[in-house]
Amino acid sequence: MSRLRLAILISGRGTNMERLLEAAAEDGFPAIATLVLSNKASAAGLDTARNAGVEALAIPHRDFDDRESFERAMDQALTDRGIEIIALAGFMRVLTPWFVGKWAGRLINIHPSLLPKYPGLNTHARAIEAGDVEAGCSVHWVTEGVDEGDVIAQARAPILSGDTPDQLANRVLAEEHKLYPRALAEACRLIRQRHAS
Ligand code: GAR
Repeated sequence: MSRLRLAILISGRGTNMERLLEAAAEDGFPAIATLVLSNKASAAGLDTARNAGVEALAIPHRDFDDRESFERAMDQALTDRGIEIIALAGFMRVLTPWFVGKWAGRLINIHPSLLPKYPGLNTHARAIEAGDVEAGCSVHWVTEGVDEGDVIAQARAPILSGDTPDQLANRVLAEEHKLYPRALAEACRLIRQRHAS
């Protein structure tokens, strides 16, 4: 069975991206890493991708007058490469309804909370502040509402007494790294199923 052409969108260090590239390099994984795209030229993850032999492209959002023209440039790059699934991995720009609509059903994101809890930013501080005993991460389909789409898979991590947001973030990140390749494979399966029926 042919593999879906995967683009990974990042804004920074790209440790989740690295796990996805490793998974996609394995025999039998249902996606092939085709493009890593960043809205910041300084994103460390771009070098990681190049070193892994994957095309890495910066499209700095600051070069554009508005959100939609930035997204049209991204969309062109994705379309030119025949991308079939997009994984957001620490991509820190909110996407417009136009882009989300264009890629609906082919766009997934990883978020560092047990959605529907704590959409948006500062998830770990908010979970600690609320007195929660567990935190976690979610991979979900991207829809117009920020962090609101259906969840594909989640993983949990305990919140320990005295945890700082950074300590918790590291514990959750280790779970993200295991979760995302598995959830991406599941998303590929669901896309194939949808397009076969
Ligand atoms: C990850 O923890 C990811 O869940 C989070 O940013 C981090 C990126 O780390 N994403 C969001 O907060 C999206 N709203 P990475 O660049 O090392 O993968």
